[in-house]
Amino acid sequence: MYDKTDLNTIDLSLEPPLEEPARQYYFMAKCREWVLGFERKSGRRPTSKVVNFGCQMNARDSEKLAGILEKTGFMRADTEEADFVIYNTCTVRENADNKVFGRLGTLQQLKKKNPHMVIALCGCMMQEKPVVEKIKASYRFVDLIFGTHNLYRFAELAARVLDSDTMVTEMWEDTDRIVEELPVRRKYAFKSGVNIMSGCDNFCSYCIVPYVRGRERSREPEEILKEIRRLAADGVIEVMLLGQNVNSYGKNLKEPVTFAALLREVEKIEGIQRIRFMTSHPKDLSDELIGVMADSRKICRHLHLPLQSGSSRILKIMNRRYDKERYLELVEKLRNAVPDIALTTDIIVGFPGETEEDFEETMDVVRRVRFDSAFTFLYSKRTGTPAAVMDDQVPPDIAKERFGRLLREVQQAGAEKAAMLQGKTLPVLAEQINERDGRLLTGRLDNNSVVHFPGTPDMIGKIWNVQLSECKGFYYLGTLNEPV
Ligand code: 5AD
Ligand code: SF4
Repeated sequence: MYDKTDLNTIDLSLEPPLEEPARQYYFMAKCREWVLGFERKSGRRPTSKVVNFGCQMNARDSEKLAGILEKTGFMRADTEEADFVIYNTCTVRENADNKVFGRLGTLQQLKKKNPHMVIALCGCMMQEKPVVEKIKASYRFVDLIFGTHNLYRFAELAARVLDSDTMVTEMWEDTDRIVEELPVRRKYAFKSGVNIMSGCDNFCSYCIVPYVRGRERSREPEEILKEIRRLAADGVIEVMLLGQNVNSYGKNLKEPVTFAALLREVEKIEGIQRIRFMTSHPKDLSDELIGVMADSRKICRHLHLPLQSGSSRILKIMNRRYDKERYLELVEKLRNAVPDIALTTDIIVGFPGETEEDFEETMDVVRRVRFDSAFTFLYSKRTGTPAAVMDDQVPPDIAKERFGRLLREVQQAGAEKAAMLQGKTLPVLAEQINERDGRLLTGRLDNNSVVHFPGTPDMIGKIWNVQLSECKGFYYLGTLNEPV
């Protein structure tokens, strides 16, 4: 098991090995040497901070970056006032890019106070050539830039940047490599994301993900199961299987496997009590998967099923490969098979050419399905995607007005759905101390809703029966019953 490797046993007088992950452990040892040198000079250990901007897959990548830094001896800082700061960026919508550029200004100020500070940028935004050009031209204080495909080489790149005065950049167009067994620093001891695949081949016409995350690749099921067994042995009770389109998991493996078959195997792993997954694509949601969900004791009664639009005409231009009727049919099938299932979704408002009639179709689906919650987004033009050059971009004021109407509808439905559970006693996984009131714990129901209830820190990481005494719209206040 590589991640237990003692870096002191690595001989740095030898050439770095060519095979992975041994090569990365060699460079972790090199970084460690730098850390020890820093400590000797300044009488303290250097600090590091990884800031995540993106989705759950990015969050998982950030845990890997933090794991590598921790392994090499960096202390963890709570803020960006640190010696090594990494921004793991997102580029799915324009405001994600803007946020990063905005915060880079603050980092520049911090670097003026601490000139040896290392600033690294990675993630989806760095897969876009114009972004990297802009940073190279106008943000010269950045020390390291790398992308999504070579994230596993972070230790090597870090070793290079710690030893250099100039900006280090390495971006790859794509990769077919999946490097296993790098160190990971999990945010929670008792739950963990698990990447089961990367990339996306769907090319929805508005979406930049296939261009920045590359082609879809699934990990071998045995590797995934091995990772989950190890997590379970380490005290993890909830896993979230992650991919851009988990429903097409395993199709391109040498020996194809379905996502449903993978879930059946995960279910067998002792110690794992809750299984979640993200994100499903309606076009690939199989009857087999619905069956597995219905039969499972561990798969959470929650499905995130992005709708994007309720208009079949728009869905076609979005290249989603399902229509309104098919979506509604799926919802019916899911609710018949798993009656208490919570459904959540993503919806884009103001896609090019969206008319009032198209938008009304979306509202119609929202009224009929009554989602437990929905993430609503204003369409954001992403250069390089087919939708960016489509005629009929919707004027911002019209898009905003529709967005407001949609938001009201989804919030109302969400609150009504949540109210239906008021008074019930349900299992809650206690996740953390409540941020506002230290006497409360914050946890999640199987359907992913948040519950605050009185409890003590030693209860974190376990599942408790909690009575949902009061529904507060999107969360509950509860009281502890018996332990499960
Ligand atoms: N504009 C607005 N929303 C987008 N999404 C993806 N691309 C765009 C875009 N260009 C949304 C989709 C997706 C979610 C992760 O982000 O709804 O499901
Ligand atoms: Fe983007 Fe569509 Fe792939 Fe999701 S399925 S990441 S929306 S291209």
